[in-house]
Amino acid sequence: MSSKPVVLIMAAGLGTRMKSDRAKVLHEVAGRTLIAWAVETARTAGAGRVVAILGHQHDKVKASLDARYGAGAIDVALQLEQKGTGHAVQCALPALEREPDDRIVVILTGDAPLLDPARVAELAGACERTPAGLALLSTVPPRPMPYGRLVRDAAGKLLKIVEHVDATPAEREILDTNAGFYAVRLGHLRRDLATLRADNAKGELYLTDLVARAAERGGATAIDAPFDEVSGINDRVDLAAVDAAARRRINARWMREGVTFVDPAATYVDADVGPLGRDVWLGPNVSLRGKTQVGDGAHVDVGSVLTDATIAAGAHLKPYSVITESAVGERAQTGPFTHCRPGTKLDEDARLGNFVETKKAHLMAGAKANHLAYLGDASIGAKANIGAGTITCNYDGFAKHQTTIEAGAFIGSDSQLVAPVTVGRDAYVGSGTTVTKDVPRGGLALSRVKQVVIEGWADRFRAAQERRKAGKPGASEH
Ligand code: UD1
Ligand code: MG
Repeated sequence: MSSKPVVLIMAAGLGTRMKSDRAKVLHEVAGRTLIAWAVETARTAGAGRVVAILGHQHDKVKASLDARYGAGAIDVALQLEQKGTGHAVQCALPALEREPDDRIVVILTGDAPLLDPARVAELAGACERTPAGLALLSTVPPRPMPYGRLVRDAAGKLLKIVEHVDATPAEREILDTNAGFYAVRLGHLRRDLATLRADNAKGELYLTDLVARAAERGGATAIDAPFDEVSGINDRVDLAAVDAAARRRINARWMREGVTFVDPAATYVDADVGPLGRDVWLGPNVSLRGKTQVGDGAHVDVGSVLTDATIAAGAHLKPYSVITESAVGERAQTGPFTHCRPGTKLDEDARLGNFVETKKAHLMAGAKANHLAYLGDASIGAKANIGAGTITCNYDGFAKHQTTIEAGAFIGSDSQLVAPVTVGRDAYVGSGTTVTKDVPRGGLALSRVKQVVIEGWADRFRAAQERRKAGKPGASEH
């Protein structure tokens, strides 16, 4: 391509058949909104500018684009009343005012996320080469679809597209249909859009009428694309089918990059996940969501759910590790049944075991909490050992407070650390202690009640109870 095309994304439609309170283009496939899929396709294909044509819930759709790409990075044109695809593109013309007439404009529908970016480049290239200045994607659906039909003359020249609702029975027999993706020279687009008329069954301005105009210049070029790549989403059945297809493609890509999937059909890797390193191992029912990354050789076992997590090389996440907005260091271990809430950081060789919950907790190298603990707003030094049942009492009903446990400290089982509090380096906290005051380096904190031992008490107790039972027949029934 001689210059970068502008890409328009038509996304103003209502999506009635989704039966949703959410605009169709805000529904997700593999964790990414449909509108973001279209933008990613445009950008990967080398778009200069991307203009989203929005209508239904345009404020929410724009907010999602701003959140993902930065405020204003994606231009928005508003089509407040949906009067057809031709009208949608008319609404985008003011946004193209400063573009030259020979600019190539690629037009994508916002609800077909599986389009290959290479196809967009192919479409723009075909448009550039044809004197008609218009190229489009055609497809042959495997079952009858209410798509526009491509009408050709005997020599094969494209004459027009006739919409399904406007087609004669003979025209409906045509197998080649319009997939809904176009590349057109802006000069032609400007002139031809002005000629559209709503004299059709739907009373809309059809973008597809551009094809009849291009016939006067020698005929538009149609590029055939596989139906699976171009099929759009109209209802939730389509959404699930496209989601499954997207996930198959994502998983196949990672397998080719050296990731083991024990059961690819039951492993859910979102579109924006990555990179996943060489020899990463993913067990069944693992979900990698958001912007999760996993380093070389890491092992993510059954049922683990990782959301915006960063997992370093060689980490071992045992079954049912749930890790959100957290970082797991090299060779660190979690699970089974560990819950790392946002802001957890495990340095290398740190370990969290079963039923350990963390939040804004930093465990430094080799620190471990192997069983039953809550560690929130805590800094835990290297090689510290957190016993079973340890709880950081970080919340007083009004504010959160910090617990600091320095390197090498040993926290005995069933202890509570009432924050803010610090346990010094190499100090001990005896089992069952409620720590309310700082413990100095190398010291011991102990708050348990002194133990009493009464020799022979149990023997005497049992004997007394047995005598009572023998003297009162029937007592055992109570
Ligand atoms: C369109 C094509 C049809 C093609 C089919 C493929 C026209 C007239 N017909 O039909 O030839 O076979 O796609 O899927 O173009 N949109 C707007 N504003 C509007 C109307 C639509 O932004 O006023 C957007 C929709 O949000 C959607 C896209 O344009 O993303 C396509 O619109 P849709 O109503 O689905 O067109 P189809 O009837 O499917
Ligand atoms: Mg449609």
